Amino acid sequence: MKVLIACEYSGAVRDAFIARGHDAISCDLLPTERPGPHYQGDVRDILDDGFDLMVAHPPCTHLAVSGARWFKEKLNEQAEALDFVRLLLNAPIERIALENPVSIISSRIRKPNQIIQPWQFGHPESKATCLWLKNLPPLTPTHILDKPVSGYWQNQTPSGQNKLSPGKDRWKLRSATYQGIAEAMADQWG
Ligand SMILES: C[S@@+](CC[C@H](N)C(=O)[O-])C[C@H]1O[C@@H](n2cnc3c(N)ncnc32)[C@H](O)[C@@H]1O
Repeated sequence: MKVLIACEYSGAVRDAFIARGHDAISCDLLPTERPGPHYQGDVRDILDDGFDLMVAHPPCTHLAVSGARWFKEKLNEQAEALDFVRLLLNAPIERIALENPVSIISSRIRKPNQIIQPWQFGHPESKATCLWLKNLPPLTPTHILDKPVSGYWQNQTPSGQNKLSPGKDRWKLRSATYQGIAEAMADQWG
């Protein structure tokens, strides 16, 4: 299958599809962090290039519910971000998965088909991740972990907040796709 991983700099999902014999390419405004087929530029340039499947990770900066206190100050950015999501969901590609955290996509476009967690795919961490799917089945968890006896996951403080301290690479560390989820996508959707 010809597969496009849109808005991916990490190469995680791309390489999982390539490892299973697919013709996969990632695309991001940023360079790819791992050598491999990558289009560095605007994904809108290549959406019409005959892909069979697209997995898209559009930016959540102006959409995530965790940033709700800033919503009033960024209505234009939010409208643009929603238009970008609509464009990706309506791309001329037979099978589409679009991934984002809990966000206003649910109230402004449509509810997600599924919400997954890294701890369902072998990573002892918590991060609710929504999937909007077109012609693809929901992902089946591959390795469900028990919550640690401490009562919180490895990436959380005891009160349930994310442990990563503010810094210039925080968004990157938080947005890279978990390997177990990338493998499940390639196994189950490839
Ligand atoms: C939340 S991050 C997704 C990271 C992804 N999960 C990964 O593992 O690489 C969103 C990405 O979308 C990229 N992006 C934003 N607008 C884009 C566009 N028009 N075309 C391609 N990539 C874009 C950003 O550069 C950013 O790396």
